[in-house]
Amino acid sequence: MNLRQHIPDDDPELKELILLIAEGGKKIQSSFIKKQGVAGTQNIYDEEQVEMDVWADQVLGEDFCNSGLVAAFASEERPEVINCEKGGKFSVVMDPLDGSSLMGINLSVGTIIGIYAGDNPLLPGREMVAAMYVLYGPLTTVTYTVKKGVHEFALDAEGEFVLQHEDMKIGSSKIYAPGALRKDWLPGHKKLIEDLEGQGYKLRFSGSFVADVHQILHKGGMFTYPGFIGREQGKLRLVFELNPMGFIVTQAGGSCSVGTQNNLDLTPEKIDHRVPVYVGGRTEIELAEKYMKGD
Ligand code: F6P
Ligand code: MN
Repeated sequence: MNLRQHIPDDDPELKELILLIAEGGKKIQSSFIKKQGVAGTQNIYDEEQVEMDVWADQVLGEDFCNSGLVAAFASEERPEVINCEKGGKFSVVMDPLDGSSLMGINLSVGTIIGIYAGDNPLLPGREMVAAMYVLYGPLTTVTYTVKKGVHEFALDAEGEFVLQHEDMKIGSSKIYAPGALRKDWLPGHKKLIEDLEGQGYKLRFSGSFVADVHQILHKGGMFTYPGFIGREQGKLRLVFELNPMGFIVTQAGGSCSVGTQNNLDLTPEKIDHRVPVYVGGRTEIELAEKYMKGD
């Protein structure tokens, strides 16, 4: 079964939008070999942009505004929400190329997407009607949810996304992926990690959020990029990173949090709202909240 056959027909426009993004993923995948340069620019987070960051953002942005499906979108690479002249039923949030600092050494990176109804993309994550990511690894895969399970497809030699995993449930392996420097961790977070290590959790951290969460989704455990000394609000972005990936993991039976509460309930304060990140199995997220709330 391919992606088109799999996505439910009850909202044909939502289906077209998901398929459009999957096609965008194919364009991005085929351009890695050609665009290996550094763009020489910085995004609004002062992160060095690589050529592909800028290009992926433009390609997807143009696709959205030409489609007649998207009223507005927000991108991690842009300082403001973009309103599309043609309009459309949906608004989109995207991290066009997450983990892009790893591209130069050929590790997995991905495109993260959240879709809302209406023309405001800065809504609480819980209001998403769909979320998906495209992972560019040994295989190029699309993982999507329209709140009817989480399903994964792999790009085959004919350019079709074919079903690989249907109705995924988060695994139960003991894996943890902890970002930031150990010496800067806050006391509650330190205790949490010590607890997990005491339970035999094995460390796996690549530096690509989308790839690390993908691993946790398949195998189980927890990804965290906490708040830390000097940056108590954390590094990763609520709108573009935690919300869509947390939404997908939640749909697969897992959970997500900023440590003190579920991020999906937060209304973004601004486009570049940063948060401490905890995403993974329900047990692990409950444990994280226990330590981070200081219970
Ligand atoms: O988008 C930011 C990002 O590249 C994530 O993909 C990743 O988890 C994180 O930054 C890695 O940060 P650091 O280099 O501090 O480990
Ligand atoms: Mn990112």
